[in-house]
Amino acid sequence: MTRHLLSIDDVSAEEIQQLFTTAAEMHDVQKREVKKLPALRGRTVINLFFEDSTRTRSSFEIAGKWLSADVINLSAKGSSASKGESLRDTVLTVTAMGVDGLVMRHSASGAAHQVAGWLDIPVINAGDGMHEHPTQALLDGYTLQRQLGGPGSLEGKRIAIVGDLTHSRVFRSNVKSLGKLGASVIAVAPPTLMPSGIAEWAKADGFATSYTLDDVLPEVDAVMMLRVQRERMSGGYFPTSREYTVGYGLTRQRLALLREGVPILHPGPMNRGLEISPEAADAASSRILDQVSAGVAIRMSVLYHLLAGEESA
Ligand code: NCD
Repeated sequence: MTRHLLSIDDVSAEEIQQLFTTAAEMHDVQKREVKKLPALRGRTVINLFFEDSTRTRSSFEIAGKWLSADVINLSAKGSSASKGESLRDTVLTVTAMGVDGLVMRHSASGAAHQVAGWLDIPVINAGDGMHEHPTQALLDGYTLQRQLGGPGSLEGKRIAIVGDLTHSRVFRSNVKSLGKLGASVIAVAPPTLMPSGIAEWAKADGFATSYTLDDVLPEVDAVMMLRVQRERMSGGYFPTSREYTVGYGLTRQRLALLREGVPILHPGPMNRGLEISPEAADAASSRILDQVSAGVAIRMSVLYHLLAGEESA
């Protein structure tokens, strides 16, 4: 298994299945009254978040705690980073306290990769700018695989990823991960939110693109809606919210275009009424809360494989 998890490039298709197998075992812990495994007893994990987060940070915290690690949360607001300390000094300082693993989120693409070069402990990327968010893609793949019938079930399945692709690290990690799992991805966005150079990229990585959601929905085996990331937008990417919803929102009317039972995913946080309607978010086929629950299991699995090491397996 990889030393760090910075990108989906760090894990092979076999390792992804291995992570899923462990995650399935970890998932059962959630149903227990006593949610504790001893695997990381005596280990310390720092969650260092330079960007806002609700589910990813709490998910890593719960995952670490259920494995009996000591988990410390640090956010940029309230840390010395806001006093002008460099990223390098911040991470060297916190890890000098005897930490065994670092989970980090940063607004700069490549930040986790850079930090991993400065430290000799495992680093897990919990989102770096517009680059990657590997544990999100793993929990998405895990959720879909369970939903569609277990190991191997994503082979040949068509998965639409829809929305603000330009700003999405979730999209970038999922293209790689779903590709490794054998699925064929269709990337759907308005032209202004398609990453530049996507045609060559799609050709190299074997995925399709479309500007027309209505044509894609009837053909897919799952649909993943992505948030419109206003905080990363500097200009006007679409005329009005209403026009975005009309073209690219999973509206009540569009739900009828999906085949019966097709799972609906969204990594959260959702802009209800913009990229996803309440009817879609709360549909019987919505797997959005299953993604959250899977997130803890996947992060337990990742922490376990990276920190406990093979010898204690
Ligand atoms: C995503 C993120 O932060 O990249 N959210 C998440 O981790 N659950 C997607 C987003 O912010 O839209």
